[in-house]
Parts: sequence; C-alpha cells; structure tokens
Amino acid sequence: EKGTYPHYMLKEIDEQPLVMRKIIQMYQNDQGELTIEPEIIKAMNDSDRVYIIAAGTSYHAGLVGKQFIEKIAKIPVEVHVASEFSYNMPLLSDKPLFIFISQSGETADSRAVLVSVKELGHRTLTITNVPGSTLSREADYTLLLHAGPEIAVASTKAYTAQLAVLSILAEVTAKSRNYILGFDLVHELGIVANAMEVLCDSKELIEHISREFLAVTRNAFFIGRAVDYYVVLEGALKLKEISYIQAEGFAGGELKHGTIALIEEGTPIIALATQESVNLSIRGNVKEVVARGANPCIISMKGLEMDEDCFVIPEVHELLTPLISVIPMQLLAYYAALHRDCDVDKPRNLAKSVTVE
Ligand code: M6R
Repeated sequence: EKGTYPHYMLKEIDEQPLVMRKIIQMYQNDQGELTIEPEIIKAMNDSDRVYIIAAGTSYHAGLVGKQFIEKIAKIPVEVHVASEFSYNMPLLSDKPLFIFISQSGETADSRAVLVSVKELGHRTLTITNVPGSTLSREADYTLLLHAGPEIAVASTKAYTAQLAVLSILAEVTAKSRNYILGFDLVHELGIVANAMEVLCDSKELIEHISREFLAVTRNAFFIGRAVDYYVVLEGALKLKEISYIQAEGFAGGELKHGTIALIEEGTPIIALATQESVNLSIRGNVKEVVARGANPCIISMKGLEMDEDCFVIPEVHELLTPLISVIPMQLLAYYAALHRDCDVDKPRNLAKSVTVE
C-alpha cells in the first residue's frame, strides 16, 4: 500500500534508509559481524573469476558490484548484459562463479543464461528481492535483498539494496581471506543510511533543480568518471524510462569522441563528482561542454564541492558513494516525470518484470 504517498516510486525512494538498516541487521551475527553462508563464501574463494549477469538497473548495480568485489575481495569480475551473454558467450575462465542480480528473480534473459551455465556445470548464485523466485530456486545459492516489495516499474530501493548486499559479499569474502580492510563496513553502511535520510529530506531542492533543468528539455546528458560513470548510467535510465526525455550516460572523457556534437545552447548536462581522484578531470569535461553552450548541473560530494555546484551530497566512504549519489538521480527523474505529466509508476511500454526473452 502506498499510504499517503502519491506514487509507489516516491515511497520506495523514501524507504531506502530503512532498507539499509534492515540489510545490516539481516546480515549480522550475534557478535555484530557481517556474515554470509559459508558455502557461498567458499564458492567465491574457489572461483578464479566472477561473472555478473543482469539486465537494466540490476546490470548497473552489477557494474558497481564489480568494483566492490575487485577492490575489496580482489577477485576479477566481468559484468554482462544477460540478453547479450546468451547469444555471444565470452571465453570463460577455468573456475567461474556466476552471480545473477535480479530484483524480481524472474527476468527471462537472465534465466536463459542460468540454464545454459548450469548445463556447463558451473556454480551459480542469485541475488534477488523475491524468495522462491525462479532465479532463486534454480541457482545453487541465494542472497536476499530484504528490500520489501518494489511495485513501481522504475527500480530504486532494489538498486541500493543490491549494492549493499554486494558490498557485504565482498567484505565477508575478504575477511575469510584475512585481508586487512581498513574500514568497518557495518559502521560505513550506517553512515550511508543516515546520509540517505538527509537526501530524502532534500526533495524540495531537487524538485526545483529538476524543474530548472528537465521540465522542458528534449534530451539530457549525464556524465561521470570512475564509479560515478556507472551511477550516471543508472541516472539516465531512470530519467528516460519514466519521463521519456532522451537521456544518455557517458564516461566524462568519452563525450569529446563524438557525442559532444549533440550539445546545443541550453542542453542539460548532469555531472556527478564524488571521487577525489577524478574530481578535477570531470570538472574539465564540464567546461568542455559549457564552452559549447550546455547548461551544467554538477552534483558533488561534501569535501569535493565547488562554488558552481547545484547539489552536494553528504560524505560517505569513497567506495560506497553510489549508494547515495543515485538518490538525487532517482528524485530528479521522479520530479521530471511529474512536471511532464507522465504516469510515474507505470511508464508506457514497460512491465515490472520482463518474462520474455
Ligand atoms: O527484476 P530485474 O532486476 O531482473 O529486472 C531487470 C530490469 O528489467 C529492470 O531493472 C528495469 O531496467 C527497471 N525498469 C529499471 O528501473
């Protein structure tokens, strides 16, 4: 039930801090340490390469998950769009582990891959919000998102839940290998939950920014570098699926290799700057498009902000920024859809779960 909320999407965006706390609680043992079934951690440790298979928003979560698993657990990861993998399987490593990320657990493209890699005898793990779903039943192992039902077609809380569970999987694997982490993930995810609350309380400002940049435009470009690139892909998908604005996410340095030809007077550019290592270079990319007339909206993280920025998100651990930087993107899309009189929860041509290949 959406209660007093006008739309499920807004309710589900607002639920993210609670979901974060629930995930921490569900994955903690009596000593307060994060824990995951030993067979799953063994499967991680036995594999020489992880293959993440997913579609849409879950694919975008997989891209961030790759960062977590490679940086924290130090296992190489490939991320594949499910519908491509089925028809164009890459050369596999000797001991692959397949991770399927799916909110619904019913996505036919992902299931097709699951069936074919099981036939090859490979280990499989599904990360899903729906216990007993097809992908959960058919995989060797399951990790649940505990996000509660997601009704809006545009996925929001499932994305941040997927990131949280992937970070926990990476952390527990790293600890099983006795790696020194240098941070306490329970503590850092708690900071993330608090930061999410601050962002959910910033709706008025984000509505205002959305009106200024997106209410009448035909198109919009999102740019970011490093992990911010993966988040802007998700920001662009959110915007296009519910507001029907043509939106694309790009790696900041890639625009000048072609897409910059599309920049006209007033074209909105949403730039994300949460990573110190690329803060100056992404701002350089913004200058390149401003020189061609673009209208820039820079979203940065506290500590990295500059005078020209439109919106500043609270500071969290640098690996975990996608969990919060996506929230202004979700809200920008939500308000753009509202301002343009679109059906926020049930956008045209889309179904909540895509059960045909
Ligand atoms: O249920 P799944 O996570 O497998 O669904 C995958 C995509 O169909 C889904 O994320 C889709 O892209 C959403 N509409 C995005 O908001």
